[in-house]
Amino acid sequence: MDSATLHEEIHSFFESAPPLKESAKITDKLNRFIHFDSPSPGKGRRVVCVTSGGTTVPLEQRCVRYIDNFSSGHRGAASTEYFIKAGYKVILLYRRGTCQPYCSSLPEDPLLECFELADDSDFRVRQSHSEAVKGAIMNHHAAVAGGLLLKLPFTTIFEYLQMLRIIASSMKSLEYHAMFYLAAAVSDFYVPWKSMAEHKIQSASGPLDMRLMQVPKMLSVLRTEWSPSAFCISFKLETDSKILLEKANMALKKYKMHSVVANELLTRKEEVTVVTENGNISVRRDKTRPGSEVEDPLVELLVKKHSTYINDAIAQDL
Ligand code: PMT
Repeated sequence: MDSATLHEEIHSFFESAPPLKESAKITDKLNRFIHFDSPSPGKGRRVVCVTSGGTTVPLEQRCVRYIDNFSSGHRGAASTEYFIKAGYKVILLYRRGTCQPYCSSLPEDPLLECFELADDSDFRVRQSHSEAVKGAIMNHHAAVAGGLLLKLPFTTIFEYLQMLRIIASSMKSLEYHAMFYLAAAVSDFYVPWKSMAEHKIQSASGPLDMRLMQVPKMLSVLRTEWSPSAFCISFKLETDSKILLEKANMALKKYKMHSVVANELLTRKEEVTVVTENGNISVRRDKTRPGSEVEDPLVELLVKKHSTYINDAIAQDL
């Protein structure tokens, strides 16, 4: 596809999208977060935008049914913790209801399972969960109060792409210090808002024929226009290992990514392959350490690559 057609498709995607609620408030939050404690924007602390969870595609404007994309949000939540540990500020663009940073040791339904009634008017943390709850609260509070974590939720593909565009524009001034870590599972097909049924589609009308349009890949405009100096990592998920690395390599070249993290559905928590123009690097979870996560060595590797990228950019500027 040539660049004019892509731009046309992107323009028509955003034109037809329902307006993002509170976009001015989101922009304001982002600007305060990015520049808080960074006296000279662009020279301050590194900021990474981590995307996490799957986007939905509504089938009706007053949505009863939707198409979903698989992602538990674990990759994004765990990576957020390791980026913060490495000294980054993290903007976490996450799907509502998916895994959250610092919550992996909590039960699935923390409110109901972590607390018990003390008497008729009060409640307390169950003894068995008190260490996990205390740790989660303390770590989360330290990250948010310390200006290191900003969480922005999305549900639909429209919200996700509009928010990604706002985030990228807000991060543009950080130049080489900005990083995008695009782990979200983003819908490839959608129903344009204006051609979508307003009310619940009726089953009495018989089998449903629906034409889905292709969601334009935003990776190239992110790289060339929204935040052109940022360090960009995209992800590639496949279920067939035979085509995984080839597809990741194609994405690396086509969208001019700095690295593509290739992962297979069944082994994604054990190992990933970081595909770069200088070759592939296999990253595995340290099985000898109980509770270890593959995101730990993965983030460590990408932070090193980002440092090299910044140093090269500074050397070129001199
Ligand atoms: O959340 P978990 O359960 O822990 O799982 C993590 C994960 C498997 C979801 C994650 O590691 C992962 O691989 N995420 C990307 C999944 C994917 O489906 O990729 P894709 O082939 O649809 O897209 C590749 C890249 O293009 C992505 O970085 C995406 O942000 C981007 N994209 C996709 C579609 C689109 N229309 N525009 C895009 O920019």
